[in-house]
Amino acid sequence: MTIFNFSDNEALGKVSSVDTANVVVEVINLEQLKKLQVNRLAVLQSSRPGQHLIGLINKVTRKRDDDQKIDDDLEEAPEQNLCKISLIGTLLDRDGEKRNVFRRTLESVPEINANCFSLEDDHLTAFMRILSSTEEDGKSLTLGSYTLDENATAYLNGNKFFQRHAFIGGSTGSGKSWTTAKIIEQMAELKTANAIVFDLHGEYKPITGDGIKHYKVAGPADVEAQHTLQNNVIYLPYWLLSYEALVSLFVDRSDQNAPNQAMIMAREVNQTKRNYLESGGHQDVLNNFTVDSPVPFDLASLLARLNEINEERVEGARAGSTKAGEFNGKLSRMIARLENKMSDRRLGFLFQGGDEIMQFNWLETLTNVLLGATNENGAGGIKIIDFSEVPSDVLPLIVSLVARVSFSLQQWTPSELRHPIALLCDEAHLYIPQRNMADSADSVSLDIFERIAKEGRKYGVSLVVISQRPSEVNKTMLSQCSNFVSMRLTNADDQGVIKKLLPDSLGGFSDILPTLDTGEALVVGDASLLPSRIRIEEPINKPNSGTIDFWDEWQEDVSEGRLTRAVDNWRKQNIQ
Ligand SMILES: Nc1ncnc2c1ncn2[C@@H]1O[C@H](COP(=O)(O)OP(=O)(O)OP(=O)(O)O)[C@@H](O)[C@H]1O
Ligand SMILES: [Mg+2]
Repeated sequence: MTIFNFSDNEALGKVSSVDTANVVVEVINLEQLKKLQVNRLAVLQSSRPGQHLIGLINKVTRKRDDDQKIDDDLEEAPEQNLCKISLIGTLLDRDGEKRNVFRRTLESVPEINANCFSLEDDHLTAFMRILSSTEEDGKSLTLGSYTLDENATAYLNGNKFFQRHAFIGGSTGSGKSWTTAKIIEQMAELKTANAIVFDLHGEYKPITGDGIKHYKVAGPADVEAQHTLQNNVIYLPYWLLSYEALVSLFVDRSDQNAPNQAMIMAREVNQTKRNYLESGGHQDVLNNFTVDSPVPFDLASLLARLNEINEERVEGARAGSTKAGEFNGKLSRMIARLENKMSDRRLGFLFQGGDEIMQFNWLETLTNVLLGATNENGAGGIKIIDFSEVPSDVLPLIVSLVARVSFSLQQWTPSELRHPIALLCDEAHLYIPQRNMADSADSVSLDIFERIAKEGRKYGVSLVVISQRPSEVNKTMLSQCSNFVSMRLTNADDQGVIKKLLPDSLGGFSDILPTLDTGEALVVGDASLLPSRIRIEEPINKPNSGTIDFWDEWQEDVSEGRLTRAVDNWRKQNIQ
């Protein structure tokens, strides 16, 4: 059944001129002209049966045309109410087997005097469903309603949205985290949803519900209290780090011995892992393992071995004499760094997980948490992981470690058993920056995220990159995203990034970026065939990103003892 069952008397007016992709419509009724708004959609009768042309209103004028004054006695010239529309596509009633198909091409042009209708309310909702190819039954992904027509729900194609990565951008306070919460909420309703949310500030604590679980990367207080996964506290032991990540953590690149240190690190980590496997009788793993294999190793014995090499003396030229070994003294700085990090309480989640994390099958417990779908082994489908206590210098290493574990597991799952997973990366500029701004920890992280951006689709790993600064986020990442939810952007560089994504015929759309209201977004991408301006509906549970009312707060009393508490908490590294 066709979705456009307009009757002639609903028409706005008739086409009065046509060129390749633009038409001018003469609006008969002044009241209707007043209601028209730029950037709204219109439907035009096509010369071909079974087709309608869809256009975007880009100019509305009301003028008196003195040339048309036929009779000088007449007080006023006749009025001309015009509306200029650029054509953007065709809706076919049927295309082979399929019904109601939208194409971004013009399969015909309207004829002079063809009727033009405004696309609103139910017609708009129905049309938007076609754009996002979502069915009326079933759970569709929606962010809210159209700004220009609150009665029309803005559906997105949930498959397409996640298939090839999405980007959510906007200045601080424009509503990114709330939008993310809205998406999380809807994912959580799906039976076997599977996603990890990187929550860098503990903002998403209030987002609760069936299928949503909260975890926290262990902070100093958790280490002290020996919290474990049972307490929803996650340890990410050093032995899960890739060789590159270990080097970036322990070797100072500016040290003249850095290449030697890195080489010895590779050799000795490899050996220590080998020892672990041998003593545990894991012969089958030994045959194929590399320095990057996720195998525990004993840090104390690695350290002892490094010290041995650093102090080694070998036989000298003269019988009975000794001289410094090849690497004598060359590892001192690496050893000092290693010892330092091992005792750093803030890095307890890496080094102080106790005996439990050294068990061979501990990794399976961790992966059940990270990749478990809703109700699978009692796991939560949406895993919100709080990274707020991870020190910023190692943040890229740690966030990307979780991403790497997820991606590797997907890769090693036989394709028929794979279950798709989305990684929601809030504040992505912190760990997925531009290459030229990256230091060594960042570049380890970039390698992983770029790889997921390029290959994730094949393995069912989707990224949703969320950032304040589209222009600071890695270009490769952005170029792999096929859906953009752009909220208010005030910076010209950031606007430029989004502008480039819009087709020329819709260029004017991007001018609205700086004027979008909080919670309003321009959505561009294949999840919705046409760029749309959407008012994002508030999530049921709001993220903790509460905007503070300075002026009002300064008129209230302050809480007693707040600074004493803050100092104490700072020292104890725990908010009490
Ligand atoms: N859809 C919405 N409807 C109404 N108000 C909203 C909406 N989204 C956000 N807001 C308001 O804007 C504030 C900031 O939103 P949010 O925390 O999502 O911003 P953000 O873009 O994530 O900012 P930052 O980059 O600083 O993290 C919220 O506290 C809320 O008051
Ligand atoms: Mg935010």
